Amino acid sequence: MSVITNIEDLRVLAQKRVPRMFYDYADSGSWTESTYHANTSDFAQMKFRQRVAVNMENRTLKTKMVGQDVHMPVAIAPTGLTGMQHADGEILAARAAEKFGIPFTLSTMSICSIEDIAAHTSKPFWFQLYVMKDRPFIERLIERAKAAKCSALVLTLDLQILGQRHKDLKNGLSAPPKLTIANILNMMTKPRWCMGMLGTPRRNFGNIVGHASDVSDMSSLSSWTSQQFDLALSWKDVEWIKRCWGGKLIIKGIMDAEDARLAVESGADAIIVSNHGGRQLDGALSSIAALPSIVAAVGEQIEVHMDGGIRSGQDVIKALALGAKGTYIGRSFLYGLGAMGEEGVTKCLKIIENELDLTMAFCGLTDVKKVDQHILIPGTY
Ligand code: GLV
Repeated sequence: MSVITNIEDLRVLAQKRVPRMFYDYADSGSWTESTYHANTSDFAQMKFRQRVAVNMENRTLKTKMVGQDVHMPVAIAPTGLTGMQHADGEILAARAAEKFGIPFTLSTMSICSIEDIAAHTSKPFWFQLYVMKDRPFIERLIERAKAAKCSALVLTLDLQILGQRHKDLKNGLSAPPKLTIANILNMMTKPRWCMGMLGTPRRNFGNIVGHASDVSDMSSLSSWTSQQFDLALSWKDVEWIKRCWGGKLIIKGIMDAEDARLAVESGADAIIVSNHGGRQLDGALSSIAALPSIVAAVGEQIEVHMDGGIRSGQDVIKALALGAKGTYIGRSFLYGLGAMGEEGVTKCLKIIENELDLTMAFCGLTDVKKVDQHILIPGTY
């Protein structure tokens, strides 16, 4: 294998090692994928001001997200079916994040359960919640997250309905995978993945199967979502969840200044400007394009984070320059995980750290907390 020096190298390796159904699940956007592509191409348009002869000694990337110390302003985003990219994927990614000193967010739709992550880590992680119709189940999930000592709840508001991803339908995405001839033939070309999966009992939705009433098997994510996710979700429910949880609350999926103001009123501690990695409303703005108007509207009242399209430390610093106080990586860490398990996630974090650190220095700064729009060329953002 050639030397891995960037996130694209991890992506290429993940594509070789992960069965097509799960690689495609992570890598696709909805419908025409225009928003999915805009998330990365809009970052590429932004240009830096290079500065020289500025003392670059003693640089630091340390800062805080929702009051918690982070080694760099990058958290692991909640991603569904992570334990299908690699056996025990959520445990491995949580361990890599913990060792690195950044937050790991466990998705409701994970393969490993809240309790699995708590048993395999020693520092608090974050838990992501979807609002489902079965409110007692939601209450129990929140109690389980409290019992696991999760230090923030990330409430996702943009997936009560599912944007259509063509590849998932064509591949018949399910967990565990259906053993069709096509899937078996494809899996036979991924021996590492198969060995890993045969060696773990975790092959289903660990937070849900056996916990939600009437759910013993939920192979189809899309049919379960359409049955269970509450279409009547409102800001009243957000307030209810805030009361049940009682800790740090981060609202994910904000793309509009008006919604950002409502999120502030709901009493949340932070919002994530996010279009769900271009997987939901195709034709929405990229997250980085939506960020400035949201920071202008509420940046004084609430911590604004962002996700979507981050494949490098350069992307992280561009988001900080436009006012984000923290960022999240989804696909970038999934590529590392699919490529090389825990080691691959660590590799991904080191790549991003190095790029962020050096880019900050090239821009003439030594403290990530001082990054602002002055590092960018006007007219390019
Ligand atoms: C779930 O969060 C998905 O985007 O599939």
